[in-house]
Amino acid sequence: MDTSTKNLEDDHIYILKLTDVMKEIVRSEKSDIEHIESIVELIRNFADGLHHAKEENLFFPALEGKGFSAQQGPVAVMLHEHEQGRNFVKGIADNVELFKNGSTSALSEINRNMSGYADLLVNHIAKENNILFRMADRVLSDAEHKNLIEQFQAIELDRPSGDRPDDYIRRINELALFYKV
Ligand SMILES: [Fe+2]
Ligand SMILES: [Fe+2]
Repeated sequence: MDTSTKNLEDDHIYILKLTDVMKEIVRSEKSDIEHIESIVELIRNFADGLHHAKEENLFFPALEGKGFSAQQGPVAVMLHEHEQGRNFVKGIADNVELFKNGSTSALSEINRNMSGYADLLVNHIAKENNILFRMADRVLSDAEHKNLIEQFQAIELDRPSGDRPDDYIRRINELALFYKV
């Protein structure tokens, strides 16, 4: 049976490809600003706009319905880390603008924020996959999983930009191929 946790874990595979690309850009010191802008857009529309929306609007509330707290414990930690991730992405985007306006120090700030985001998300996803989702599987019924998946699909079909999840995944795969990660 398909589960809501498996659906979210499938997204994680592509978010981790994107963080691998980010780490490789930092490591190789080849900062292609167009690629970095594309990464910011993919994080905002896919990792945050789609995946974190599924978690924050549907999956975590379902867990709260099972007695998980949004103020403390694993769900609260996950929500806080999503927020930290948004701050790193803002750091990348702001410094891309500064770089385009001629700031020479902006590149190191872009790299610092990309590394911060990648490290945060790798740890975040490990905690979700290994701990929170396994706890969720113990409390969600088959019918609740099915209901969540249907609601996830509604978000996937209703991207504000008219994009489809497949478009994001294709673009992430292209970047991963380019950077050989
Ligand atoms: Fe998350
Ligand atoms: Fe996640």
